[in-house]
Amino acid sequence: MESAKKNTRHVYEDHAATWDEQRPRHLYERKWLDHFANTLPQSGSILDLGCGAGEPVSQYLIAHGFQITGIDFSQPMIDLAVTRFPEQTWLAQDMRSLKLAQRFDGIISWDGFFHLSQSEQRLFLGKLPSLLNNSATLLFTIGTGDGEVTGTVAGQTVYHASLEPDEYQDILIEHGFKQIETVLEDEDALGRSVLFATR
Ligand SMILES: C[S@@+](CC[C@H](N)C(=O)[O-])C[C@H]1O[C@@H](n2cnc3c(N)ncnc32)[C@H](O)[C@@H]1O
Repeated sequence: MESAKKNTRHVYEDHAATWDEQRPRHLYERKWLDHFANTLPQSGSILDLGCGAGEPVSQYLIAHGFQITGIDFSQPMIDLAVTRFPEQTWLAQDMRSLKLAQRFDGIISWDGFFHLSQSEQRLFLGKLPSLLNNSATLLFTIGTGDGEVTGTVAGQTVYHASLEPDEYQDILIEHGFKQIETVLEDEDALGRSVLFATR
């Protein structure tokens, strides 16, 4: 597990182009993106954590008029996003040591946040109040329960972890989120487990 964890960054650096080519573009996540977008103010600001190369998730939100700040620790992913959407903000940063002065109306991490370990996820969630406006929406994909697993990207091993859905809910309630939805293995979203919350 430790080597998968160490490997994850290199996999997304070394195989960014392959990953991007294979990333489905048919917007299987559209239902959740629309739900997210519908809660945000017009032209609102969105932080996309683990944004990858910007297509199709940021792309969809940009087309709806939102202002994106995309964070990814893979420089080649960020380079692709800059080329595609130069008018948005793309930063090569690790979300575990994120430094941002701005606050956002929405925060999304579609298949990104789950690369952090459980302790890193708890630490990150503790920083949410300093990243979000008073009224804000969160959309993350998570695992189905507490644990660590490995996955494969371009034939290489990557690391994933999740907390129990109840723990996510408790943390979000602590940070002022009022409406929290957790849908596990959503058949409408290629089986992704989704955490959605507004405050
Ligand atoms: C499966 S891809 C998803 C990309 C994009 N969200 C999408 O749905 O197309 C995961 C992304 O998270 C990034 N990532 C993983 N851990 C990260 C971390 N600690 N900080 C910043 N980016 C990270 C990877 O570099 C990769 O681009």
